[in-house]
Amino acid sequence: MKRRFLITGGAGFIGSNLVDRLLASDVEHITVVDDFNDFYEPEIKRANIREHLADPRYKLAEVDIRDRAALENIFAGRDFDCIVHLAARAGVRPSLTEPELYSETNINGTLNLLELARHHNIKQFVFGSSSSVYGINAKVPFSEDDPIRQPISPYAATKGAGELICHAYSHLYGIRCVCLRFFTVYGPRQRPDLAIHKFAKLISEGKSIPVFGDGTTRRDYTYVDDIIAGVVAAIEYEGSDYEVFNLGESRTVELRELISLLEKELDTHAVIDRQPPQPGDVPQTFADVDKARKLLGYNPQTQIEEGIRRFIEWFRTTENHRMKA
Ligand SMILES: NC(=O)c1ccc[n+]([C@@H]2O[C@H](COP(=O)([O-])OP(=O)(O)OC[C@H]3O[C@@H](n4cnc5c(N)ncnc54)[C@H](O)[C@@H]3O)[C@@H](O)[C@H]2O)c1
Repeated sequence: MKRRFLITGGAGFIGSNLVDRLLASDVEHITVVDDFNDFYEPEIKRANIREHLADPRYKLAEVDIRDRAALENIFAGRDFDCIVHLAARAGVRPSLTEPELYSETNINGTLNLLELARHHNIKQFVFGSSSSVYGINAKVPFSEDDPIRQPISPYAATKGAGELICHAYSHLYGIRCVCLRFFTVYGPRQRPDLAIHKFAKLISEGKSIPVFGDGTTRRDYTYVDDIIAGVVAAIEYEGSDYEVFNLGESRTVELRELISLLEKELDTHAVIDRQPPQPGDVPQTFADVDKARKLLGYNPQTQIEEGIRRFIEWFRTTENHRMKA
């Protein structure tokens, strides 16, 4: 059982949910590395970790993963059994306007962490990859054996590169690298730039929602609790030194169906502002999760209808708090 963790991006959406889960277990200590950048409001990230800060097993390092020397200091006096690397510039569309930033953070930052794993003898490395690596893969569902040579955004290319660097380090230095391809994650604390959260906010404010394309794009939406269960299984995974797993719900939902679910839960009609399709956006994602089921015991539980209900419950409470503050 691994009990000493370095978690990058631990103040973000997925990272903070993971920390919740680990602090509820018998961990020895967790160090979170996060730079609280303004990709979205840093205040949201501060709120995500407020309760974590009160736990004596938790330590926060406000460090940029591009800064190798600052990362090195974190290792003084602390040993780790496992690195869970979730810090990244996430988001497909902004990667078209800031490709250097995406490359420096997602590729060089990942390399920095693998170098630290190597020099500090950390034998388990879990890497937060993305379904976007499949790009315009025509075959569905997407399986881990499909080639990933067709990314269509800088973001997707940096995630593919991250997986490749993981492979090199696992081969050279015996670090077990488990790459997890997350399929559109949603649930409490979801990033405000992602469709479900963005749409919920606009609809509840009576504003129109931008819909890119004709609404027939499809996504495999994965509830955050299912993702966290997959990450925890990857932390404990003791099979081969390098594996890639899809973590999705293995069901695709059309954008217009998603909007209907939001309308139902918010009890309001959405006003659609139709826009042309966006460069970098893939037409569909759909995960084959057989490998994760078999090797990780992954078993996604949350259907989109229930997940959206739970997300809106969280959204309403959070918005109410914000309005009162
Ligand atoms: N949310 C999804 O649907 C989804 C899908 C596929 C992959 N992913 C991947 O999962 C991981 C977590 O995503 P998320 O949705 O929680 O995003 P998020 O933006 O909420 O979390 C990422 C965290 O990393 C931190 N970070 C970014 N750059 C950093 C840097 N240079 N140094 C230190 N910290 C830095 C951010 O401040 C943020 O708190 C990312 O690697 C993302 O690419 C997410």
